[in-house]
Amino acid sequence: MKHQDLWQEILSDVRSILTDLAKSNAKTVSLSPETVALLSHTTDPTVNALKELEQVVSGCTKCPLYATRTQTVFGTGNPHARLMFVGEAPGADEDRQGEPFVGAAGQLLTQIIQKGMKLKRSDVYICNVLKCRPPNNRDPRTDEIEQCRDYLFQQIEWIRPEVICALGAHAARTLLRVQDSTSRLRGKWHFYGTIPVRVTYHPSYLLRCKDDKVKEREEKRKVWEDIQAIMRFLNGEEIPSRDPINDGTYLWQ
Ligand code: URA
Repeated sequence: MKHQDLWQEILSDVRSILTDLAKSNAKTVSLSPETVALLSHTTDPTVNALKELEQVVSGCTKCPLYATRTQTVFGTGNPHARLMFVGEAPGADEDRQGEPFVGAAGQLLTQIIQKGMKLKRSDVYICNVLKCRPPNNRDPRTDEIEQCRDYLFQQIEWIRPEVICALGAHAARTLLRVQDSTSRLRGKWHFYGTIPVRVTYHPSYLLRCKDDKVKEREEKRKVWEDIQAIMRFLNGEEIPSRDPINDGTYLWQ
């Protein structure tokens, strides 16, 4: 069907829905699956590819986590985001709501984005390495990461962010294929292919530091340094360069 015809069809459907609504005082409206499909149709290939992948993920049974999840948590935000945040795995709140970073750690991440970076959550893209919640919020297991990471890699391929912020060790290790701790990896640029990656502490870690005010301030300062580096990059004020020793890419390769 040509785009113009499709839009004519959508417009005429919407017109008749609104006419019916005006007549009936109804608070809800039922749509046929065909109408829903038409209304949600987009010609943006990135959006369509992400939707298709989300569908695949929602039926995934590759690792045992599918048996205990309420729902999968795919990712949220701008499909053309310049900045992508990658966390570890959904927690209880995310598992219930189907959206990443909506619990306590998510509120802290949202503050970093809004108050720190002066961006909206909807400007960036947010997702996790694992798309299903590990029971009792335990750490992701290696086999779970191995089964799930291709979904993340496909999200990156479709979204093509200009920069990635890896939140915590699991995200950093999955993206960079290293085993180092967050404290060793943070504070410098790494690369996922050609995309610069900045590693920083996971917001949950910052929340766990709350009882030790000195440590909390110190670790928050480091996160702010990492976030500022990302902001400088986004503003064109910093060009990430490869560290020939530390990111595994050697000068003679
Ligand atoms: N922690 C994560 O790593 N991801 C979430 O979505 C929530 C908490």
